[in-house]
Amino acid sequence: GIKKKEVHVLCLGLDNSGKTTIINKLKPSNAQTQDIVPTIGFSIEKFKTSSLSFTVFDMSGQGRYRNLWEHYYKEGQAIIFVIDSSDTLRMVVAKEELDTLLNHPDIKHRRMPILFFANKMDLRDALSSVKVSQLLCLESIKDKPWHICASDALKGEGLQEGVDWLQDQIR
Ligand code: GTP
Ligand code: MG
Repeated sequence: GIKKKEVHVLCLGLDNSGKTTIINKLKPSNAQTQDIVPTIGFSIEKFKTSSLSFTVFDMSGQGRYRNLWEHYYKEGQAIIFVIDSSDTLRMVVAKEELDTLLNHPDIKHRRMPILFFANKMDLRDALSSVKVSQLLCLESIKDKPWHICASDALKGEGLQEGVDWLQDQIR
């Protein structure tokens, strides 16, 4: 068949936000794993959409591994940033990590699309994507295209909408 354009994506966000669960759900069902464990360091994953072949750097969000993220910034052409919408206590930590990311010299002046997943929308305590967007001050991101989707990675809801947006940004 026709060779799809290859895109490198960084999947970032705090530990337990659902990054690996999301990436797993984007794979064809026969390639999905059943048991997802906290990522150690990072893992390289692949999935395809109608026109693109994505290589994802699924980074660990644990504090002790977050210093690994920046080594992959130059490689990345787009970012998927995942937030646990029910983790209100750590929303400020997620914002700090996002701000550090946006100010990094390897990210700052580049036009990199950022897709935010306000994940775990199925949980009773989950904040709306509008609220998450406000708490993270996403409106202040002026130099990069960004988009936020509410998602439930367990059911796979909201993921396709996000990936469709990302695909449109890259073509
Ligand atoms: P690290 O690899 O440690 O950075 O975590 P991660 O962001 O990759 O999170 P992971 O995908 O391992 O998911 C963490 C936990 O959240 C798992 O128990 C998942 O089943 C659960 N989870 C992921 N997405 C959702 C969701 O949308 N809703 C609910 N209720 N649970 C979710
Ligand atoms: Mg993970």
